[in-house]
Amino acid sequence: MSQDLRSFVAAYAQAHPDEVVHVGEPVSADYDVMALVLEYERRRRFPILIFEKVTGHDIPIVTNVVASRRALAFALGVAEPTLAAEYARRIKEHVKPVVVPDPPFRRRARTGGDVDLGSLPVPRYFPGDAGRYLTAGMLVARDPETGVETEGYHRFQVKGRDRMGVSLHSRRRMFEYARRAEAKGEPLPCAVVLGLHPLVSMGSLAYPPPDVGKFEVVGGLLGEPLRIAPCSTIDLHVPATAEIVVEGEILPGTREPEGPFGEFTGYSARRSTEHVFVAKALAMREHPWFQSIAAGRAGDHITTLGLVREAEIMNALSRAIPNVRGVHVPLSGASAFSAYVSIAQSRPGEAKHVIPIVLGVDHYVKLVIVVDEDIDVFDESDVLWAVATRMQADRDLLVISGSLGALLDPSADERGVTAKLGIDATRPFGAPFAEKLVAAPDRMAWARALVDRLGRQEGPRA
Ligand SMILES: Cc1cc2nc3c(=O)[nH]c(=O)nc-3n(C[C@H](O)[C@H](O)[C@H](O)COP(=O)(O)O)c2cc1C
Repeated sequence: MSQDLRSFVAAYAQAHPDEVVHVGEPVSADYDVMALVLEYERRRRFPILIFEKVTGHDIPIVTNVVASRRALAFALGVAEPTLAAEYARRIKEHVKPVVVPDPPFRRRARTGGDVDLGSLPVPRYFPGDAGRYLTAGMLVARDPETGVETEGYHRFQVKGRDRMGVSLHSRRRMFEYARRAEAKGEPLPCAVVLGLHPLVSMGSLAYPPPDVGKFEVVGGLLGEPLRIAPCSTIDLHVPATAEIVVEGEILPGTREPEGPFGEFTGYSARRSTEHVFVAKALAMREHPWFQSIAAGRAGDHITTLGLVREAEIMNALSRAIPNVRGVHVPLSGASAFSAYVSIAQSRPGEAKHVIPIVLGVDHYVKLVIVVDEDIDVFDESDVLWAVATRMQADRDLLVISGSLGALLDPSADERGVTAKLGIDATRPFGAPFAEKLVAAPDRMAWARALVDRLGRQEGPRA
């Protein structure tokens, strides 16, 4: 299959013509990209946006590629409701990558003193940001001890022709790789890759075991080996279909102020690991696309993160809980901090057993709500109704203090240490409980048909 961004956008446009919008009028890299994304979101729309004329640049900007579950499901070739389950299944099927020669991104290449990151149309997102940011920079590196490759998105603040500040605040594999290189007093060779197929983005956010590289996870999603190509100045491979590749290294023992930046939490984040990246080469296609991922709580930034957490939670629970009915990591929790799980209880104590399993999947999750199978975890009003009517605070809360959390959570302390809360909002197992109101199914079918005949009228909210 085609593994490049352009083919994906073309196929998506053919299937959903309204979901790919070409912006032909001139735009500024300062704030315009973010503003248009937010205006579409205000209208509950998440189209891919292609800005063809960016003032002062000859490179178009493409954004919102991974903003909607519709686009992610299309990339995976499944219906939207089965997206998380299918993703959960395929990330376990690892397929090794294959090396190809002569990648298109090598057409225009500059090295050493000729590198100028200022030649890229790097946007500003929010007025409080410290500067211009690469938000769709997929950072690739290898473990200095085991050689296992990893990749993930990390924010990059452009600071000069060849210098960027980078924050590794998710403190997952890349943070550990940088720490291991630094412990040896060595730089971490790495590449920042822009313009990728959504399945590469989705695979890069998974949580594989330490001995599995993320390119193998992407291969599982693709159903075929990811095509990769060698870098020219460092010993590393990157996805061959990339639009733009910046090769370089993260310096050991060097920290410089980075941020603030409009983060996924919905806040301007000052916290940063303040690492420093120095570029050695800048390579790109003949006529590249510059990919941006919208900042803040925009769908482009957090939709994939919620999906990945749902899938990883499903996989973890499947080993211990037989009847999981639904998992939702909602946008209201920034796709990171809250998880709702519905189960059909088969053993006493099962609901409480769910809580530590979910908290153990991901150090970002700090609120787990467990509900019965009659509750729709994608309907937050339903979830809160279960909490209001089935939870007793002295019996159903589990609190863990002083635990590893997200550095960027403004309610966690400066070190990212946080408390965690589990809520068992299920009915007591095997005991009598109040009968839930359910209307007569045949009369509901009649009412549905009648309202359809009477016509659609918007009324006030209750
Ligand atoms: C758009 C986007 C931006 C992100 N920015 C950062 C970031 O600036 N720093 C960071 O540490 N993690 C960031 N993340 C999360 C990491 O990319 C994610 O946790 C990834 O799985 C880490 O990979 P690793 O386990 O190989 O370190 C971002 C994720 C997305 C989707």
